[in-house]
Amino acid sequence: MSQTFTIDGRVIPFEVGQTVMQAASQAGIYIPHLCYHPAFKPNGSCKLCTVKVNGRQSASCTLRAQSGMVVESDTEEINAERRMLTQMLFVEGNHFCPSCEKSGNCQLQATAYHLGMMSPHFDHFFPDRAVDASHPDILLDFNRCILCSLCVQASREVDKKQVFALSGRGIGTHLIINARSGRLADTDFSLADKAAQVCPVGVILKKRTGFAVPIGQRTYDQQPISVPGKVAEEIRHD
Ligand code: SF4
Ligand code: FES
Repeated sequence: MSQTFTIDGRVIPFEVGQTVMQAASQAGIYIPHLCYHPAFKPNGSCKLCTVKVNGRQSASCTLRAQSGMVVESDTEEINAERRMLTQMLFVEGNHFCPSCEKSGNCQLQATAYHLGMMSPHFDHFFPDRAVDASHPDILLDFNRCILCSLCVQASREVDKKQVFALSGRGIGTHLIINARSGRLADTDFSLADKAAQVCPVGVILKKRTGFAVPIGQRTYDQQPISVPGKVAEEIRHD
């Protein structure tokens, strides 16, 4: 028999070993997240999924559920912190939603809408990052990378290729391509790779398909990201 804990007063059943995020998703409760993907071990980097348990903050994607836990998630205080983290992600990269071909399918944009983010609030960094168009099928726009690590995990764990890696430290952390030239074309990356499908934002883009699905008819144009089941693995590059 499964045990239970509560999220915002709602009783959630869980199996031993499940995280708070897994149990919440299973129960149809949305906890904002960007670096969590159900197919991979959580890396706990974005902190968007932070909840309060008995007054202490914790990332729900790495926190094991325990019987009797009292979890707060959808509160004004926690959502204000999530909004601030989202604003920081927007200013650290170059995210220009009206001209981005991932608009409507982008989890960062959809999360910002969910959290009621009305402006970036902070000064933009405007980093200068080159686009890699060397690969015949894929374009990489590093300007939108939020360093979630999902492409790194997918390439290493599913594709067995190690095409991507994170390099540097702190504010200098950036995504690199594991090739002497640093170019995607000089790797064995393929459109069929899992790593080509997991980016929550508009970095890894399939060529010759941009805007095939019109703005207004895309995943998060149809329903908000908080609708149960609309998690990372369901997003495809239309
Ligand atoms: S390219 Fe996309 S999947 Fe890879 S680390 Fe950046 S945001 Fe995450
Ligand atoms: S989703 Fe939990 S830290 Fe990113």
